[in-house]
Amino acid sequence: MSAESFRAPRLEVSSILQGGYHHPTLRQMQNNGRNLTKSMFIYPIFISDDPDAEEVISSLPGQKRWGVNKLEGFLGPLIRKGLKGVILFGVPMKMNKDPRGSPADDPSTPVILALELLSKLYPKLLLVTDVCICEYTSTGHCGILSSLPAPGHSNQPTLDAEASAQRIAEVAVAYAKAGAHVVAPSDMMDGRIKAIKQGLMHAGLANRCALMSYSAKFASGLYGPFREAAGSAPSFGNRKCYQLPPNARGLARRALTRDANEGADMLMVKPALPYLDIISDSATMFPDLPVACYQVSGEYAMVYAGAEKGIYDLKEMAFETTESMVRAGASIILSYFTPQFLDWLDEERTNV
Ligand code: PBG
Ligand code: ZN
Repeated sequence: MSAESFRAPRLEVSSILQGGYHHPTLRQMQNNGRNLTKSMFIYPIFISDDPDAEEVISSLPGQKRWGVNKLEGFLGPLIRKGLKGVILFGVPMKMNKDPRGSPADDPSTPVILALELLSKLYPKLLLVTDVCICEYTSTGHCGILSSLPAPGHSNQPTLDAEASAQRIAEVAVAYAKAGAHVVAPSDMMDGRIKAIKQGLMHAGLANRCALMSYSAKFASGLYGPFREAAGSAPSFGNRKCYQLPPNARGLARRALTRDANEGADMLMVKPALPYLDIISDSATMFPDLPVACYQVSGEYAMVYAGAEKGIYDLKEMAFETTESMVRAGASIILSYFTPQFLDWLDEERTNV
């Protein structure tokens, strides 16, 4: 090489990064050891009280409400592809709702029937149950309303914190008795983690049932499709007095701390994509507790809708959003994309 043809580098050595990711395999190696795997996924499933139901949910592409008689045909193929965990949501279409959400732990409620069936059919499948009463209350709220008038500022009904936490704990214990390996309270009532943990201890189930707290659950606009799917929209008012305000990072951190101290085994952040900072906070504040995040119904529908409009490719965006959650610190992802990922994670990655 002649001296003239050699172009003296003008850039500093420390400026050069591209050599480290010019090849697809190198790009995958740049993941800081945090790989997306099948066992991170938990699949949310809606269970109807009509045992033969298989109903399309129009706002959630590809998702259905399932009757217990249909679960084997639906889940069997997914389990053979590597499905490791499901989270169950009951959808009582015919049961009588009341102010305390009595159908939630009725022995004939769809979640309990599904737990009994699935633990027999698939003993290795991780069975998580969402614990809330909004699907079962006549008010559509996640707690029990106080009969006392709210002092001072309004005559709107308020929550009875103590009664709500006790009722939620009762429901959680009923699910644990029916075979839930994990109970996941999504109601956001104050004090319910301690009440559930004590309930599990009294029932002798604390060493056989984990407690995954929806600790940092925000009052989000992204739950719409879920509320249609589960029939759980509040009949009046909203959930802003119990779900967290979207601007409140400090409050979210306090909620994570409280639930860690009250006995949660895992912490959850929900929704996921707009709250990656909170996922990261949880991972750094409580490195010893796994962080779960829920890519909720509206996030899923949003990714789908954008792909349908041709804004991006569905698979690429599903990977990008999910990998951002893993990067932020999540090791458990609740996602309606779970069935697709069971295929996608077997395929050669073409989108790196
Ligand atoms: C009920 C509950 C909700 C979700 C999970 N559990 C809805 C809500 O709080 O209104 C949302 C899940 C989703 O949107 O996919 N407490
Ligand atoms: Zn609820």
